[in-house]
Amino acid sequence: MPDHCIVYRSHSSELLDENNLATVLLHSRCHNKKAGITGVLLFLHGQIIQVLEGDQHELSLLYDRIQRDKRHTNVTTLVSQSVNQRLFSSWNMGYKTLTTSQLEEFNVIVDLNNKKAFNLNQQSILDLIQAFYNTN
Ligand SMILES: Cc1cc2nc3c(=O)[nH]c(=O)nc-3n(C[C@H](O)[C@H](O)[C@H](O)COP(=O)(O)O)c2cc1C
Repeated sequence: MPDHCIVYRSHSSELLDENNLATVLLHSRCHNKKAGITGVLLFLHGQIIQVLEGDQHELSLLYDRIQRDKRHTNVTTLVSQSVNQRLFSSWNMGYKTLTTSQLEEFNVIVDLNNKKAFNLNQQSILDLIQAFYNTN
């Protein structure tokens, strides 16, 4: 069975700042390791972009919990596809702060206000995130 990959974006609620994000990451790395899930979380000024990779069933259980989590809102799925190869196979949950210009670059491509997100080439979103992660 090929692995599955989910990318979403969301906005942190007042319950989540950079300090308690560290607690979320600690929990995530521990759980993801047990469940064989890898990925990265990118954060800037309350905007969250997260990539999750792993077994489809494990991922859907986790994504249900993430979507119900009150620490963020407006969870919007950008990518949900099977993948032959993971992009972040060595990270149980990597973390980077985006630069302002990277977030702007991302917003140009994923223009949610114009509802273009679902017309996007999912691979180009993943390529962009990987480039952000590697160059930051
Ligand atoms: C932005 C964000 C990202 C999260 N990422 C993960 C993750 O990668 N892995 C994980 O186990 N929990 C993650 N969580 C936490 C889950 O939403 C949830 O709190 C956790 O799975 C425990 O769920 P439970 O309290 O229902 O057992 C994340 C939460 C937030 C707000």
